[in-house]
Amino acid sequence: MRQISQHGEWSSRLAFILAATGSAVGLGNIWKFPYIAGENGGGAFVLIYLLCILIIGIPIMMAEIMLGRRGRQSPINSMRTLATEAKASRYWSWLGWLGVIAGFLILSYYSVIAGWAMAYVVRVASGVFEGATADGVSHIFATFVADPEKLLAWHSLFMIVTMLVVARGVKGLERTVKFLMPALLAILILLVGYAMERGAFEEGVSFLFKADFTKMTSEGVLTAMGHAFFTLSLGMGAIMVYGSYLPSKVSIGSTTMLIGLADTMVALLAGLAIFPIVFANSMEPASGPGLIFQTLPIAFGHMAYGSIFGTLFFILLVFAAWSSSISLIEPAVAWLVENKKMSRMRSCIWAGLVTWGVGIGTVLSFNLTADVTFFGKTFFDILDYLTANIMLPLGGVCIAVFAGWVMSEEDSVKELSLKRQWLYKTWLFLVKFISPLAVVIVFLKSIDVI
Ligand code: PHE
Repeated sequence: MRQISQHGEWSSRLAFILAATGSAVGLGNIWKFPYIAGENGGGAFVLIYLLCILIIGIPIMMAEIMLGRRGRQSPINSMRTLATEAKASRYWSWLGWLGVIAGFLILSYYSVIAGWAMAYVVRVASGVFEGATADGVSHIFATFVADPEKLLAWHSLFMIVTMLVVARGVKGLERTVKFLMPALLAILILLVGYAMERGAFEEGVSFLFKADFTKMTSEGVLTAMGHAFFTLSLGMGAIMVYGSYLPSKVSIGSTTMLIGLADTMVALLAGLAIFPIVFANSMEPASGPGLIFQTLPIAFGHMAYGSIFGTLFFILLVFAAWSSSISLIEPAVAWLVENKKMSRMRSCIWAGLVTWGVGIGTVLSFNLTADVTFFGKTFFDILDYLTANIMLPLGGVCIAVFAGWVMSEEDSVKELSLKRQWLYKTWLFLVKFISPLAVVIVFLKSIDVI
């Protein structure tokens, strides 16, 4: 059975690689990875994260692209079609629902943070950080997040811009990403150069790469694993829906490796740029979601042409966030178009409004409701924990189980068409046993069952 996507196809393999990399590389790499690595003690956390990318992330990404391309519809409908094809339960389509809800929830806070990056474009450009001290930079950040109206305004702007692109169809995205990725990489390398020269580079490197397992908690391991899903955009249908627009001839294996490599490189570069600045200024690596906003402006405030580079950096960060947020909402929009027979425009308005509304909770959790906590977590913390640490790994395991156990080997061999038999066998072993088991063990350990 061959399906054809009603939303069209990517123009080429490169277009898909660019879009999927655009989805993967985002705030997760530059904003989230450094601060969670900082909160969890560095080295050991980074090692576990890299391991998760390799043995869980890469195989599941291949599985997710494969299911998308075979189903050729929104994740909900693709899963239903594929389950029917494999004579399995129709309830597999619930996996699509889990993803759609996770996407809404993630985008609701993602947009708020992307709004911070937008606000920082203006701040850096205005030169307020020139010659600023670490205290001064932290103060500017604290004042900013304490103002709910400002955060709300930027969050709203970001949502509008995102929904406008989605309304026009994500396949127009490829052109933007083509310029964005190399530029972002260049500026990150520049920042690492600054960190080498002026930061406590050795201290930064040893923090990131010297594994000290005594600092690891089982909660930290869960965060590292959850982040592997988050950063690769896995477990919620984003990569599945992009896969559904993928032409049949493209090799899934090598494409996945490229995306995984690019994503990991950006995260490590961000870490290498940030931690030397943290240590050179005696700052706290565990200072939380504000970390990049409290460190990088110091670098921009002291380097030659810092305001220009800084402005460019935050513009690129906004674009990177943008190309990710589009993929967060695309599964929902594709489903509304398919099942509710709405136009793309109307679907976007509805999906966007709901997400925007939930985002207000995150806006307030940094100021007015910062003290309202549940098990010590604010609204933002809860959303982040629920989506990245629970929903994405859960969705990912279901994808792995479906690809490994439910779909026939005959079909998966054909879809993946890996050049070597042992590669296919390794993949199958990983999705059948290793990924599901690893996720279950980490889950159980984090709730102290084992
Ligand atoms: N991978 C994106 C990032 O690192 C976030 C994302 C998660 C996008 C899940 C889509 C789906 O910023």
